[in-house]
Amino acid sequence: MKFPNDFVFGGATAAYQCEGETRTHGKGKVAWDDFLAAQGRLSGDPASDFYHQYPVDLDLCRKFHIKAIRISIAWSRIFPEGTGSINQEGVDFYHRVFQECHKNGVEPYVTLHHFDTPDTLHKAGDFLNKDTVEAYAAYAKFCFEEYHQEVKYWFTFNEVWPVATNQYIEGTFPPGIKYDIPKAILSMHYMMLAHAKAVLAFKEGGYPGQIGVIHSLETKYPYEDNEEDRLAAKKEDILANQFVLDATFLGTYTDETLAVIRDLAALNGGDFNPDPADLAIMKKAASMIDYLGMNHYQSHFIKSYDGENDIFHNGTGEKGTNRFRLKGIGERMFKEGIETTDWDWLIYPQGMYDMIMRIKKQYPMYKAIYITENGMGYKDTFEDGFIDDTPRCDYINKHLKVLKQAIADGAHVKGYFVWSLMDVFSWSNGYNKRYGLFYVDFETQKRYPKCSAYYYKMVIDRKDVIE
Ligand code: BG6
Repeated sequence: MKFPNDFVFGGATAAYQCEGETRTHGKGKVAWDDFLAAQGRLSGDPASDFYHQYPVDLDLCRKFHIKAIRISIAWSRIFPEGTGSINQEGVDFYHRVFQECHKNGVEPYVTLHHFDTPDTLHKAGDFLNKDTVEAYAAYAKFCFEEYHQEVKYWFTFNEVWPVATNQYIEGTFPPGIKYDIPKAILSMHYMMLAHAKAVLAFKEGGYPGQIGVIHSLETKYPYEDNEEDRLAAKKEDILANQFVLDATFLGTYTDETLAVIRDLAALNGGDFNPDPADLAIMKKAASMIDYLGMNHYQSHFIKSYDGENDIFHNGTGEKGTNRFRLKGIGERMFKEGIETTDWDWLIYPQGMYDMIMRIKKQYPMYKAIYITENGMGYKDTFEDGFIDDTPRCDYINKHLKVLKQAIADGAHVKGYFVWSLMDVFSWSNGYNKRYGLFYVDFETQKRYPKCSAYYYKMVIDRKDVIE
């Protein structure tokens, strides 16, 4: 079996990670600007200079037969303060980008929020503050109205759980808070409410096209086959996966989900009591969404853990340094025989297959899935214009193989996007963690196809992987 003829092969990007021009052309601030500066770290400026280089990147898409691109709109490029006055230069920029996409036969799949709430709203509590939900809904509606002739495929949010855990549990995203599980839960809930409001605005506005949300879904397996580890894996799954999947497909939370979430909130001095009126909105939206975007990079093997919270983020690519231990939940373990990237991400394609089949079984109302991100962070070396990233080709090939199997086993998967199209800025890891099919020389901004770009073109042309 090959991939279906209409299967979409794309490449993914995100505004802050590639555009550059973060504080010019009328763009408002995002929390990252100060957060990174305060730590003396490099920022998203100029990143891959997509603000100027987009014709080059889209031309490369055309040449390498990549017919779809994920782009995110930077909310603060349109509304510098998150609400209120509009920055026409920002509005026009995305018109130019979308037109260039169509000129090159590349379909834009557009995300409205990719980790970059405008700073004014972030300072007022980000998605812990319900005002942000309203501001987001107004921004989404503006985008549908403005771009509906150019954009047919929308995603409301990129990765609700990673935003919340990185902001409030791991502390790697602004505001850099650690171990506040109740805040992470509330912020996820409000993002899902904001998602629902955007879906309703889209559907009730009668815009052409389709809409969904993207979740990062990492399968959680028990480290050992015993009751304690099974429970630990279950709890982490509910917090990271099932909570947002329930919200997406059911528009409410099952008793099983609520019981675990409330226990975790209580263990950390909090509570979780969603407003029934909000759940009614979420329920309505759940019946209307067209697809789920699933980002998948790794799986986790969880051992039960009752010690103190202890998280360390390997942001430099120094193998074996990652730690993730949450009191009353579990500890993520390395596992013999399972390879990792230099940043300690477990390479386990079976986890992608298992997650897709789980969604099919647990949420039979799902209509379609796109793999909206998959790829490998790697320390690419550039030698005489040649970038041999064979491990990345191998990683992509393994994942496409299980994806093909999932389709053969009845899952409705419509597309796959490599993260990332070209090298971009990595939020918590800077510029030496590269993911692109195209190498970016961040000084000259020149692009060079890596081996993986040629590999991907071959897959696209054959509609098949290497067996
Ligand atoms: C996803 C995000 O979580 O993972 C991307 O949507 C991100 O924005 C990607 O860059 C890879 O993560 P990282 O931390 O390795 O750059």
